[in-house]
Amino acid sequence: MKGIVLAGGSGSRLAPLTNTTSKQLLPVYDKPMIYYPLSTLVDLGIRDILIISTPRDLPNIETLFGDGSHFGLNLQYREQEKPNGIAECFVIAKDFVDEPVALVLGDNIFVLENELPELRRIASQTLDSAHILLCPVKDPERFGVADCAEDGKVVRLVEKPKVPTSNLASVGLYFYPADVVKYAAELKPSTRGELEITDLNNVYLSEGRLRALRMSEKSKWLDAGTPDSLLESSVMMAAEY
Ligand code: TTP
Repeated sequence: MKGIVLAGGSGSRLAPLTNTTSKQLLPVYDKPMIYYPLSTLVDLGIRDILIISTPRDLPNIETLFGDGSHFGLNLQYREQEKPNGIAECFVIAKDFVDEPVALVLGDNIFVLENELPELRRIASQTLDSAHILLCPVKDPERFGVADCAEDGKVVRLVEKPKVPTSNLASVGLYFYPADVVKYAAELKPSTRGELEITDLNNVYLSEGRLRALRMSEKSKWLDAGTPDSLLESSVMMAAEY
């Protein structure tokens, strides 16, 4: 399996910190934020990784990691011209994705525990289905939210619902078969003008090819995209070491 770290976006909630640099290069405890999502992929056994960021920030990220060989990785880089949505990464990466692929968002920090063996298994397989990770959150209206049946199967995925019907957010680690490139190319922009990852996941759901894994209680997840969660991420990672 290959991997993508999506590290563009506008970072507006972290302005003015992000007026001159990328959110994903801001410090989380003792490292630039992007180290953590990159390590998440590496922990799953993924070595061929494409990093996507803005034309402004990509050169600095490339300076940070180079070709990745000193970490035993094979890293490539591509620009996302404008923040046209998370699912656009598969349009940008179409010639990179010639096998199943994991996507991690560049501002998502995971401390994975009980689900690691299952995620490593998923990352070592030829996939037929897309796999998403669900985490209970206090503010589901900010995320893609999953309604699940009693057997745990996802029955509905809604992006930023005004009235959420569950507290299970789809968080920023996803696994797809290589046909994701074809489905991403067919997506239309949403009313906010973005290619939505929830729309992409709904295509797999409609074909009966979406599996969801609930994060265990011991595991931790943060989206470090606001001043409070950025601070919380540093505290969390300092406690891990
Ligand atoms: P968000 O946090 O949803 O968006 P953002 O980074 O633009 O921040 P803000 O809302 O504060 O303006 O994005 C989640 C992650 O996905 C983050 O790492 C940035 C990345 N991203 C892209 O790289 N390209 C995109 O087009 C979008 C929408 C997000």
